[in-house]
Amino acid sequence: MISLQQALWSGRFAVGMDDSTLAFTSSLDVDSHLAFYDVMGSLAHVRMLKKCGIIPAEDADSIIAGLKVILDEVRKGEFELDYSQEDIHTNVEFTLTSRIGPAGGKLHTGRSRNDQVATDFRMYLRDDALKAAEAVNQLMMSLVKVAEDNGDTVMPGFTHMQHAQPVTLAQHMMAHAFKFSRDADRFLDAFRRMDKCPLGAAALAGTTYPIDRHMTAQALGFREPTENSMDSVSDRDFVTELAYCAAQTAIHLSSLCEELVLWSSQEFGFVEMDDRYTTGSSIMPQKKNPDIAELVRGKTGSVIGSLMTMITMTKGLPLTYNRDLQEDKRPVMESMETVISCCTIMSKVIATSAFRKERMLEVTSRGQINATDLADYLVTKGVPFREAHGIVGAAVRHSIESGRNLEDMTLDELREFSDRIEDDVYDILPVVRCVERRNSYGGTSSASTDVQISKAIEQIMLRDEVIRQETQLIENCWKQLAEE
Ligand code: ARG
Repeated sequence: MISLQQALWSGRFAVGMDDSTLAFTSSLDVDSHLAFYDVMGSLAHVRMLKKCGIIPAEDADSIIAGLKVILDEVRKGEFELDYSQEDIHTNVEFTLTSRIGPAGGKLHTGRSRNDQVATDFRMYLRDDALKAAEAVNQLMMSLVKVAEDNGDTVMPGFTHMQHAQPVTLAQHMMAHAFKFSRDADRFLDAFRRMDKCPLGAAALAGTTYPIDRHMTAQALGFREPTENSMDSVSDRDFVTELAYCAAQTAIHLSSLCEELVLWSSQEFGFVEMDDRYTTGSSIMPQKKNPDIAELVRGKTGSVIGSLMTMITMTKGLPLTYNRDLQEDKRPVMESMETVISCCTIMSKVIATSAFRKERMLEVTSRGQINATDLADYLVTKGVPFREAHGIVGAAVRHSIESGRNLEDMTLDELREFSDRIEDDVYDILPVVRCVERRNSYGGTSSASTDVQISKAIEQIMLRDEVIRQETQLIENCWKQLAEE
């Protein structure tokens, strides 16, 4: 049995809660990760209480001094958790009061754990969103670098996993790169939306004290306070949104990894991953396994799971705070950590992989991957595209049956399918030409991938600057709160 005096809310109760109640309701294991943000939130709150004359200056000062000691312990990993206190918020307040005496009890004036936890978690996830955007940005840069080196590396482009049209490795890598560009943008968009401070919403209805929510919001590096107290304590859409950002990034990562696993197989042989980022087999000496890519692909499951947890958990909740909301932390803390580590390691995997140019070219040159180009050629000679499609289809059948490529057929053979075909057909059939001629905006020609590469670098640099500025702003707030 927990002794009654120990619980911060014990007044109304005749007996203390059962040990099993505490064990079941405690969130300390998870929300202890919010300790730093909780103390910062309290430092901002107490300064505001002092400035607004809500608590005496000397009490505020002793609270500030006490909080600074706790902050120091948190930073050094030395803050001792008391498991008889159900969460991090009660832990900080309990420790403070046991050290500085009754003045500590004034800290919780004009706030509630409901607005406190919403504020803490926003601050925590705000940092995570910036870290994720940075990690995704880095991964994108690795892909762009591969593209820079491979503007002329011809490879098969696939649809339905069948050879479709020739592309370059640059084009393929940039396709992944722009997916990650949107992912990084999404993290920053989510950051902007969660950049409002719920502190001072109190339990649900605001407070009778003359608090200054703009002051606390600013001190904690938020753009402004949230607009409505009930909204502030009842929603976790900022958590769900980040869970989605993480899930979408994980889905993109899993596609990239799926390809790397395939491409490193003997059958494809498109890529060899660096020894440092592969593993061996305990029994088969020849094996070099793409375990990192497989693990990243596999981790997508739990990242998507955390999104499912959030949307299911919050569905149908009445306003305002409900204890269900306590279940929001673990899944998203974990999925953000997972995605950040996946991006970080994949960035290294990509940067160190050797792409086999000759093998890609050889595979592309085999078969009828240039059939669309022959059809397009006929169109330039005045044949309607639909008709050209049929003509080339017949030529392809013939080339398959005779075991040759289209460009290996003689002019006479080709002309049996259409007398519009002339000698210049051999200029357009080599796969290298097919690639170069696809110079429409966003296409696979090297002129076009050059444009993509410079756009991508611009996007990366713009985001880097935003991340740097936002990180700096938050750091400055912590400095000021800890030093003032
Ligand atoms: N540990 C709680 C959470 O994470 C803090 C808020 C508790 N509020 C309450 N009314 N019990 O949601």
